[in-house]
Amino acid sequence: MIYEQIATGGCQSYLLGCSETCAAVVIDPEISQLDRYLGLAARDGLRIRYLIDTHTHADHFSGTRQLGRQLGVPVVMHRDSPASFVDMRLDDGDMVLVGRLRLRVIHTPGHTRDSMCLQVEDRLFTGDTLLIGATGRTDLPTGDPDALYDSLFQRVLRLDPSLKVHPAHDYKGAGHSTIARELAENPRLQKRDRAAFVDMMRSLNLTMPTHITEALRSNMSGGKTVAQLLAEAGAVVPFMALAELKARVETADGNLVVLDVRERDAYEQGHVPGARLLPRGQLELRVNDDLPDPTRRILTYCELGRISTLAAATLRELGYQRAVALDGGMKAWREAGYPVKPGSEP
Ligand SMILES: [Fe+2]
Repeated sequence: MIYEQIATGGCQSYLLGCSETCAAVVIDPEISQLDRYLGLAARDGLRIRYLIDTHTHADHFSGTRQLGRQLGVPVVMHRDSPASFVDMRLDDGDMVLVGRLRLRVIHTPGHTRDSMCLQVEDRLFTGDTLLIGATGRTDLPTGDPDALYDSLFQRVLRLDPSLKVHPAHDYKGAGHSTIARELAENPRLQKRDRAAFVDMMRSLNLTMPTHITEALRSNMSGGKTVAQLLAEAGAVVPFMALAELKARVETADGNLVVLDVRERDAYEQGHVPGARLLPRGQLELRVNDDLPDPTRRILTYCELGRISTLAAATLRELGYQRAVALDGGMKAWREAGYPVKPGSEP
């Protein structure tokens, strides 16, 4: 079996390949790593056949849907997953065949209702059911400490103690563990009485994961994250460096239309000399009057360089084929000590 572990911060994903047939699967892909999975698969001579999420993630952005669409391969989850875009729903005891590899599904609700572990040869991919030195939390949507107790003590921990444990999270870079080691050393597994385990899980008092609202929204709906939206806009527009714009401002380059797409009060506090105000929220409404010539070179900027990227992408879509965005924003411009003009005049 070809095995690659890909970390995104503490979030772990795995590329598994069948060495005989070159078929492969990605478990818990993260949205910012799609190029990496494809690169590793290409390097290892693998063809990705399935994309599996071990559960509905609240803490990272799943890449299953986007990569699934890109490759034309099924998105696989437990049948209790609330996501509407799942192509293949699995039940406890099902197997997914990836070439000669057999991924056996063990439904392990508790961290979430749709959590499952996947056993492949001598490895167990535990999602957030069993972590190294910890367990998944049970205080997020559909979490249930009683169910986690059953999943751990009736199912997972009864498996072959020599099985290697590969969790969906590992913040300490431990890599992997084994069932035996977790039974012996995992502090959360030392309370083997149900009531004591449930009490402990209920009293953990963990802080909410960052981006939980956005992660659940995009993972359950298949909708884009804000970062994705920005990355897609950034992929279709060129950028101009701050210093390049400064040089053009100093020479009063009449061929460049500089658009400040922030709101009026921000513009009046201080803008790039010569820049015109056209707030992002009014762009489509005013574009025909304000920018009658689609062949002009137009530069957009905002405070941080994100909204201006969306604005430049919109302008390109509208046919302004020379729209570019500033690489950076007004904040960086001020910090660089470049000229700033207050007031309502360009
Ligand atoms: Fe999770």
